[in-house]
Amino acid sequence: MNFHNHPIDLNPFTRVTIRTVKYYKKDIRLYCSLFFKYSFFRYPAFNYHYGKLRKNSMEKNTHNIALVTGATGGLGTAMCQKLQEDGFQVIANYRNAEKGQKWHEEQKAKGYNFAMAQGDVTDFEDVGRMMAEIKAQYGPISVLVNNAGITRDTPIWKMTLSQWQEVIHSNLDSVFNCTRHVIEDMIADQFGRIINISSVNGQRGQFGQTNYSAAKAGMHGYTKSLAMEVAKKGITVNTISPGYIGTDMVMAIREEVRNKIVEQIPMGRLGGTEEIAYLVSFLASEKAAYITGANYAINGGQHVY
Ligand SMILES: NC(=O)c1ccc[n+]([C@@H]2O[C@H](COP(=O)([O-])OP(=O)(O)OC[C@H]3O[C@@H](n4cnc5c(N)ncnc54)[C@H](OP(=O)(O)O)[C@@H]3O)[C@@H](O)[C@H]2O)c1
Repeated sequence: MNFHNHPIDLNPFTRVTIRTVKYYKKDIRLYCSLFFKYSFFRYPAFNYHYGKLRKNSMEKNTHNIALVTGATGGLGTAMCQKLQEDGFQVIANYRNAEKGQKWHEEQKAKGYNFAMAQGDVTDFEDVGRMMAEIKAQYGPISVLVNNAGITRDTPIWKMTLSQWQEVIHSNLDSVFNCTRHVIEDMIADQFGRIINISSVNGQRGQFGQTNYSAAKAGMHGYTKSLAMEVAKKGITVNTISPGYIGTDMVMAIREEVRNKIVEQIPMGRLGGTEEIAYLVSFLASEKAAYITGANYAINGGQHVY
């Protein structure tokens, strides 16, 4: 196009613009080609890949060494399985060697490959030994699920001192014992997930369970205080309070008593172990970074507060 001999009488502004465009024609073409090349084609590609990378790093937890205590029990088994399915490297704690080995074989037959760690969670020194061995072999623990627990039900006027102490040691002292041995590594790593398995009966009480309810209620105070202490260090601490779940612990309750319990559950059924495991895995994930000091009731509506 010949800008000088343009047939239309142009105003001065247009004429100056046309002259400028003509003068910088080559540069403008270059800028345009660069703009098209990098803006229209490169950026969507970059965004696509960057989006995928971000998504992958969110889905695959980079802090993925997870220890589940009392893994050989009903809830522990479901938690280990779900955590492994979700990409965690699971270390399964067990107490009884024979039971632990049998359980390990069963899990292998089902396609799960858990690392095993023997240790009695009521024993501070033994837990220290177990944690040191885990760290030496797999690295520091990022996710601790304090799940091991027992019941010794009887009304207070029949309860022996050892029934009281056993339950407090297994359900509450154990939580301190395990946390204390991993917390410094979590602080150093500026990352940690601690999930304490309490119980609906820690919230509402239950006849014959003064020992168990006291221990499980104690977990709530522990969770809240610890959550505050480590909130700025990338560590979250939460409690899950299951209602009645169909595990050995619950199936050991006399059938007529169990039936009465089920009648009191608005959903009219026991919970499934996987219904607890889903939440454990979510709370263990990097996505759950803003949840701390919370208690999650999973009880079919049995205790609403
Ligand atoms: N099932 C429910 O309805 C229900 C409801 C609310 C809360 N909970 C809580 O959920 C957790 C798991 O319950 P669950 O039903 O899965 O019970 P479970 O089947 O009886 O399993 C408990 C597990 O804890 C282990 N354990 C006990 N004391 C231990 C110790 N000192 N050191 C290491 N491991 C120890 C047991 O190992 P051994 O077999 O070798 O002793 C077992 O593997 C418990 O804390 C329980 O209080 C359960």
